[in-house]
Amino acid sequence: PGKNGLNGERSFVMLKPDAVHRKMIGEIMNKLERRGFKLVATKYMKASRDLLQKHYADLSRKAFFKDLIDYMASGPVVPMVWEGLNVVQIVRTMLGETVPHKSAPGSLRGDLCVDVGRNIIHASDSVTSARKEIELWFHPAEVTSWKPCSIEWI
Ligand code: PPS
Repeated sequence: PGKNGLNGERSFVMLKPDAVHRKMIGEIMNKLERRGFKLVATKYMKASRDLLQKHYADLSRKAFFKDLIDYMASGPVVPMVWEGLNVVQIVRTMLGETVPHKSAPGSLRGDLCVDVGRNIIHASDSVTSARKEIELWFHPAEVTSWKPCSIEWI
């Protein structure tokens, strides 16, 4: 491990509208916290189609692209930045597979969803895409890290 016992790695994670509608925000954030990751930025927002099209630009030629943008624009999302040792890869493993029927029980998708078009959560697939996605969704001032404090009553 590097600085602070972490490798300072960050991942962009986003709860999709179905996770919000199904009231799973707390449950999913709890799992990420309990695994050992640190929440360093979050907000609650309805994303514009323009922002979503930028976020999913690599998929613009896919047949499901319009459905994906319609779904992501259909309600609020919760974009987040999580920090911790190997967070990008570990959160991808916690998600399960893109297609819920291939996601093992115990994974977020394996426990909480059934439809690829409603698969509750997005997470960066590499450190490079995490950097790009964090930059797209957050101003630098919105991302605030912290160190464990030494106040005895906590
Ligand atoms: S692909 O086909 O290999 O590019 O797919 P993948 O990289 O696994 O998925 C990219 C994102 O597209 C979403 N996806 C879909 N959305 C709606 N409908 C269908 N059929 C569909 N197939 C894939 C998938 O959930 C990925 O979104 P994120 O937000 O990154 O999880």
